[in-house]
Amino acid sequence: MPAIVVIGGQWGDEGKGRVVDFHSQYCSVIARYSAGNNAGHTIINERGKFALHLVPAGIFRSDKTCVIGNGVVIDPAKLLDEIDMLTSRGVSISNLLISQHAHVIMPWHPIIDRAEETLKGDLAIGTTGTGTGPAFHDKVARIGIRMADLLDGDSFRWKLKNTLEYKNKVLTSLYGLPPLEYQPILDTYLAYGEKLRPYVTDTLTFVQEADARGEMILLEGAQGVLLDLDTGTYPYVTSSVPASVAAGGAIGIGLGPTSISRVVGVYKSYQTRVGNGPMPTEITSGGDMEMLREGLGGAAGTAEYGTTTGRARRVGWFDSVLAKYTARSNGVTSVALTRLDSLSAFESIKICVAYEIGDQRVTTLPATLTDAARAKPIYEELPGWQQDVTHVRHLADLPPEARQYVHRIQDLMGVPVDMISVGPERHQAIVTRDIFGGAIQS
Ligand code: IMP
Ligand code: MG
Repeated sequence: MPAIVVIGGQWGDEGKGRVVDFHSQYCSVIARYSAGNNAGHTIINERGKFALHLVPAGIFRSDKTCVIGNGVVIDPAKLLDEIDMLTSRGVSISNLLISQHAHVIMPWHPIIDRAEETLKGDLAIGTTGTGTGPAFHDKVARIGIRMADLLDGDSFRWKLKNTLEYKNKVLTSLYGLPPLEYQPILDTYLAYGEKLRPYVTDTLTFVQEADARGEMILLEGAQGVLLDLDTGTYPYVTSSVPASVAAGGAIGIGLGPTSISRVVGVYKSYQTRVGNGPMPTEITSGGDMEMLREGLGGAAGTAEYGTTTGRARRVGWFDSVLAKYTARSNGVTSVALTRLDSLSAFESIKICVAYEIGDQRVTTLPATLTDAARAKPIYEELPGWQQDVTHVRHLADLPPEARQYVHRIQDLMGVPVDMISVGPERHQAIVTRDIFGGAIQS
């Protein structure tokens, strides 16, 4: 019966990891359904701080099964590094399953990722350079290599030989780069296959049977839905197919859409973006930018630098036009608002409620990049609370100004805010409604 999807409602890095970590206690299966190791989740629990890129954030609960679904692209070296990191820190991964249908990031993918960005010049996206985009291009072009291929020597030899001939033509003729050698890739990837063999299986059937038994399945989105190919800020998006949008959850794990009963949208209390592309509420200089980027005023250690690439994230005020749009296009039933603590030092806080484009007031996503670049945010300004909130666990104990801020976001989005995070630790959260049960706090 019921699957729940947790998505990032903005451009990624909203704090999905901690929200997944929280809800996973009620679920028996936790599954990643899209993207690759371009994604990065930070999770802090009693064992310490962990940066995960491929393994689902449910891995810390040993009684749950964690699945890397068919919709994910896997860099085997990166996955093995992550597995080693987890096991060396005492986290068991015996509960991990990997889809035999997941596509593999091959050595040419990161090379092409970077070469393509250079070739694009002013059209460059600012990708993570992980090869994720090119691996999805190959999936769609129907020349991808899947996990099952790595486990079958004959199939892999044949596929690699033919694919590499093609890719070497691309590398040498289009990008002017040296060709790659067949034998080392063959040996390395067959060895990866052997190491990952214990985990690779038919996850489609596994998840479908869990669903048929009525078990709760948590589908863990990656990145943010504004990076979606179809409904995001194209072309400054990621190439994931299926997308990380809520609907992609069904495809990327092999369930039907009717299995999804709830969608949790994770939204940062302000906004960040890494990579290029429009961001109407961006603050590009000055004290407010510093305050948001360095996380001044919030819990320690919450500065805005990428988990995957270490890049400084672009920062800006909460954009309710985009938030309402993503809530609707993903069927969000419950909002988790993260990093409220990071706003604690501001005297006043802005929320974008519309854009001015030329002489028009607009409350929808601009259709073209030219319009997006011209969109001037129209702000509502709310008073700040200017006090520490990292210890607060009940809505009633938040300063009135902070409650007003949360309620305003809820009203603008038209979806209840059920969880508010006030610090990166597992316990630093206010849960106002148990999405599996009912009211906790009003
Ligand atoms: P790609 O996914 O590496 O192709 O990058 C495409 C765009 O998505 C770039 O703007 C990246 O910065 C952005 N992106 C990809 N993964 C993440 C993520 O996990 N968090 C935030 N941005 C991401
Ligand atoms: Mg991230």
